[in-house]
Amino acid sequence: MNVLVIGNGGREHAIVAALAKSPSVQKIYCMKGNAGISELAECVNIDYMDLNAVCDWVDAHPDVKYTVVAPDDPLAAGLVDALEARGHRAFGPNKKAAEIESSKAFAKSLMKKYKIPTAAYEIFDDYEKALAYVEQGKFPVVLKADGLALGKGVLICEDMQQAKDGLKQIMLDKAFGSAGNRVVIEEFLTGKEFTPGEEVSVLTFTDGKTIIPMIPSCDHKRALDGDKGLNTGGMGTFTPCPFYSSEIAEEVMNKILLPTVAAMNAEGRPFKGVLYFGLMRTPDGMKVVEYNSRFGDPETQVVLPMLKTDLMEIFQAITDERLADIKIEWEEGACVCVVLASGGYPQSYEKGKPITIGTLEDGVFLYHAGTKIDNGILKTNGGRVLGVCAKGETVAKAREKAYRNVEKIHFDGMQYRHDIGIKYNAKG
Ligand code: AMP
Ligand code: GLY
Repeated sequence: MNVLVIGNGGREHAIVAALAKSPSVQKIYCMKGNAGISELAECVNIDYMDLNAVCDWVDAHPDVKYTVVAPDDPLAAGLVDALEARGHRAFGPNKKAAEIESSKAFAKSLMKKYKIPTAAYEIFDDYEKALAYVEQGKFPVVLKADGLALGKGVLICEDMQQAKDGLKQIMLDKAFGSAGNRVVIEEFLTGKEFTPGEEVSVLTFTDGKTIIPMIPSCDHKRALDGDKGLNTGGMGTFTPCPFYSSEIAEEVMNKILLPTVAAMNAEGRPFKGVLYFGLMRTPDGMKVVEYNSRFGDPETQVVLPMLKTDLMEIFQAITDERLADIKIEWEEGACVCVVLASGGYPQSYEKGKPITIGTLEDGVFLYHAGTKIDNGILKTNGGRVLGVCAKGETVAKAREKAYRNVEKIHFDGMQYRHDIGIKYNAKG
C-alpha cells in the first residue's frame, strides 16, 4: 500500500520512519516534508491547508490508499472530513472531534460537564468582563487564548499588571490573531509545596471505543536550561516519565482517559486518532492541562522509536474501529531527544545556514524539523531544526549518547538545552 503523510516537522519524520518499517507500506509521500523526510518519502510541494488541492492530489493518485494527517491546523480545518467525503481513508479526528484541541473553551466545558479533573476556569469574550473577573481573583492566574496559537497562547501572570497586559495582548491587540477572540482564565495549578506541578504527556491511540496509552513522556517547553526563557514548541523530550507509576497510570485511565472518550461520544463527537493528554500532578491528583488532537512534537520522536507493533496496522485498526483486537508492544528502556534550534528561536531567527553532520553513533536517529536541501547542501529552514534521539537502558544513558552526538552537528547560531532528561529525578 502507498501512504500520504501530511506535515513538515520532526514529528512527521518520526511517523514516516515508523511507517517505513511496516511490511504493508510500499511507498510513502509526504506533503510537504523536509530534507530528512525526503530520504524515506517522496515530498509533494502542495500547501496542505488548501484542502481541495490535497483532495485533488489524492484523487489523482489512486495508488495512495491512506492519508495520515499529523498537524493540528489541517485537522481543525477539516482535512479528514474533506478526504472522507471524497471516499478516501484518512487517519485523524474529524473537525468536530478536533475541537478538543482547537477550542480551549470547548475542552474546558467538556471537562466541567463530565467531571474530568482540570483547573477551575471561566470563559470570556468581553475584555471588560474578563478584566473585572481577574481583578477579584488571586495570583498567579493563567490566561489562555481560546484557539490554536502554536503552543504560545498561554500566559502565566504573577500579578494584576501582568494580567492586565496579558488580557490586552490576547483580546485587544490580538497577538494570537482570532484565537484571542475568547479567553479562558484559569486557576494556576501547583504541585507539592506550591512548586509548579510535574507534567507528563500521555499520547493515546483511540478508535472512539477503546483507548490505549502510549508510553508516557516528558517535554521541556522553555527555551533555556533550568526551564528559563520563553515557551517554545518543545526543546526536547524523554521517555519514560520517572514519576508515572502504575498507580498514577490507573488513576489517569479511570478518571481521565476513559471519561474523555465517553464524553466525546456523548457529545456526538467520537474521537478517532491520537488523543494527547497534557497532565499535571497536583496535591488533588492528576489533572488535565491540555488536550491535543494529534501526536505531540517532540514527544513522538521519543515514543515511536520504542514502538514494536506495526504503526500502519494500528492506524488501520483505528479507522476500522477494531483497536480492541490489537496488542500494542513497546521496547524496554529509555529514549531522549535533544532539539537543535536556530539562534534566536522562539523569537526571530535566520534561515539558510549550512548544516554539517559528522559520523553519528549506531542507533542515533536524527529527526529533521526545519531543514532543506539547497543546491545539494543541507541548510536550516526553521526555528527547530533537528532532533537528536538516542535510546539507552536508562534515561541517563540515553541522554549521554544523545549529547555525545549533538557535538558532531554544527550550524551557525545553533542553540540547544543542556539539561534534557534531567527532570523529576529521572534515573531511567
Ligand atoms: P498549554 O499550552 O496549555 O500546554 O500550556 C503551556 C504550559 O503552561 C503548560 O505545559 C504548563 O506548564 C503551563 N500551564 C498551563 N495551564 C496551567 C495551569 N492552569 N496551572 C499551571 N500551569 C499551567
Ligand atoms: N509538545 C507539545 C505539543 O506537541 O503540543
